[in-house]
Amino acid sequence: MMGAGDDDALDLSVELGSLRLRNPIIAASGCYNRGAEFGRIMDVAAYGAVTLKSVTREPRLGNEMPRLLSTPGGLLNAIGLQGPGIAYFLEHEAPKLAAVPSAVIASVAGFSVAEFAEVASRMDGIPGIVAIELDVSCPNVDAEGACFAEDPASTAAVVEAVKARVTKVPVIAKLTPNVSDIKPVARAAEAAGADALSLINSLRGMSVDVDRARPWLANRSGGLTGPAIRPVGVYHVWEAATAVKIPIIGMGGIETGRDALEYLMAGATAISIGTANFRDPLAPLHVGETIAAELRKRSFTRVRSLTGMANPGFAGARA
Ligand SMILES: Cc1cc2nc3c(=O)[nH]c(=O)nc-3n(C[C@H](O)[C@H](O)[C@H](O)COP(=O)(O)O)c2cc1C
Repeated sequence: MMGAGDDDALDLSVELGSLRLRNPIIAASGCYNRGAEFGRIMDVAAYGAVTLKSVTREPRLGNEMPRLLSTPGGLLNAIGLQGPGIAYFLEHEAPKLAAVPSAVIASVAGFSVAEFAEVASRMDGIPGIVAIELDVSCPNVDAEGACFAEDPASTAAVVEAVKARVTKVPVIAKLTPNVSDIKPVARAAEAAGADALSLINSLRGMSVDVDRARPWLANRSGGLTGPAIRPVGVYHVWEAATAVKIPIIGMGGIETGRDALEYLMAGATAISIGTANFRDPLAPLHVGETIAAELRKRSFTRVRSLTGMANPGFAGARA
């Protein structure tokens, strides 16, 4: 099967700040980690980059089970940022990253500005890590609590504090769709120094078990992902792309190449695949083939020509 980078005539590379990826297809945080399990059945190099599960300062067990529920066209999760914490990550995970056959984007989550800055700075300069994404948007942790990315000022505070301490790699702010207007948050992240944006994270949702008359998820609410949220993701990418010049990584419900093309044409420079990995680990290969076919069909040579093509208000750069 042909991967995304096999056609010499096509330039599939994209730029996210100072970072250049060989293709625009990225594995989303929490759905792939560094690809160790997936590598047994597919070539992780099909991805231009893989994004690691978000790392917090302290180890976290995550939420009580059940914490995953299949819904129509989607997946509701309330994992609650389970993970071993930054000290374990540095000792046991970081040394393995240089061997990953694609670029690695680290992800940081935190419950205070200081936590974000500390964890991100401890990841800066680790061999193999080419960018740091800030999960300022996870809705699951404090069930009803507002997350940073719901407020432009809090988003800016996190980005500013991280940019003051992370100097070696670009910083990506990952935004939430749980806002009525994403533009002020996107602008705040850009003004605070973010080199790129990722959007969208999961959409807050809930499902009730009618027989037991109680929520299905132990955490009650969770984050909805998968194809059900794709139109929401495309909308937010479109809106953000009219508000900022920095590149956008679009995600939410991408399963096929045509889904990815929607995001690119709305204004995304790169795209991420999350939930689809659980059903079809070969998704990045199909997506790469379809993007290449679309470029040939339109007689384009560079994937960057597709970015913002459908969006008359696109404010970013295609070069
Ligand atoms: C099980 C699961 C765990 C996730 N964990 C994280 C995480 O730790 N950090 C993060 O930024 N996003 C996390 N996400 C969100 C995804 O990275 C992505 O933004 C979202 O799922 C939308 O894309 P998709 O519809 O392709 O899955 C998680 C998603 C799922 C389904």
